[in-house]
Amino acid sequence: MISKDELIKLLPQALNETNLPLPGRTSGKVRDWYDLPDGQRLIVTTDRLSAFDIVLARVPYKGQVLNQLSAWWFKQTQDIIPNHIVSLPDPNASVVRVAEPFLVEVIVRGYITGVTSTALWYRYALGEREIYGYTFPDGLQKNSALPEPIITPTTKGGVTGHDERLTCAEVVEKGLLDKKTWDQVQAAALAVFERGQEVAHKAGMILVDTKYEFGRAADGSVVLIDEVHTPDSSRFWKADTYEARFAAGEDPENFDKEFVRIAYTDKGYRGDGVPPVMPDELWASASERYITIYELLTGEKFDAGSYPVEPRLVANLEKTGYK
Ligand SMILES: Nc1ncnc2c1ncn2[C@@H]1O[C@H](COP(=O)(O)OP(=O)(O)OP(=O)(O)O)[C@@H](O)[C@H]1O
Ligand SMILES: [Mg+2]
Repeated sequence: MISKDELIKLLPQALNETNLPLPGRTSGKVRDWYDLPDGQRLIVTTDRLSAFDIVLARVPYKGQVLNQLSAWWFKQTQDIIPNHIVSLPDPNASVVRVAEPFLVEVIVRGYITGVTSTALWYRYALGEREIYGYTFPDGLQKNSALPEPIITPTTKGGVTGHDERLTCAEVVEKGLLDKKTWDQVQAAALAVFERGQEVAHKAGMILVDTKYEFGRAADGSVVLIDEVHTPDSSRFWKADTYEARFAAGEDPENFDKEFVRIAYTDKGYRGDGVPPVMPDELWASASERYITIYELLTGEKFDAGSYPVEPRLVANLEKTGYK
């Protein structure tokens, strides 16, 4: 494992943005992408860390972990639903099939938890019992398992960034998707989530909840796009300590971005106004966690790519014929 000192030293080199010699550069909060011929796209996952819908920091190796972990999960789930991956020319980059993204983010939750304003536990603790179109009984405890996983969709943020909560019925009522497609998406989401929980369980982890994006490929089929079961899109808890901590009223040991959110909410920040400045140590710990969860889930040793990333990326694109 890379030492915390090394990770702190790498902070200034963490990949913030790319300027590759390819057309059509566009940036999301975490990814940069470029046009490739034949309906394909190069997606570069940077080291930017976003939470509360804003970019808060750069975390060394985060981009590599997200890119390679997603690719690994896409492989684990390709028998359930086809996905956008074509190849990985670099540890931080994927060549994908461009899809027309559906305007709904498909969040699947197996537990009631969370500290952000859209989180199930946050709403429940405010006293709400009708949440995302589901009725919840009184007396639920934070971090308890739901009887079965539920889908809580949101609109895709668009330029304003913030996602709006929806019920499953509203996805069709608001015309975001036709019923047949939405049924297909829901079934795929639940099946991929179930597979994720099984695989995570074997690795000693609980897949708590996650967000999927789907889209329509050029051939008309529904495909899984974006990222799958990464610590950015999902919550992961350690399985063997969950029960005892739950019984003691303690939060589970988490291996995802939640600990960053908690560090901010501990300082009273929930996403409004100027975020407080956090110490380098927090971002080095974040890096350690991303690498650890990669190794736990895949059972493979993390093969750290070289920094700086950009010249390596350019060399790999030349080598693989994409430039
Ligand atoms: N195969 C694909 N075809 C088209 N768009 C894709 C594909 N895979 C991912 N995307 C889109 O690329 C973007 C990835 O960028 P990033 O993860 O940085 O976005 P983001 O800041 O999380 O914003 P968003 O809320 O839109 O996901 C997302 O908007 C996602 O919908
Ligand atoms: Mg995203």
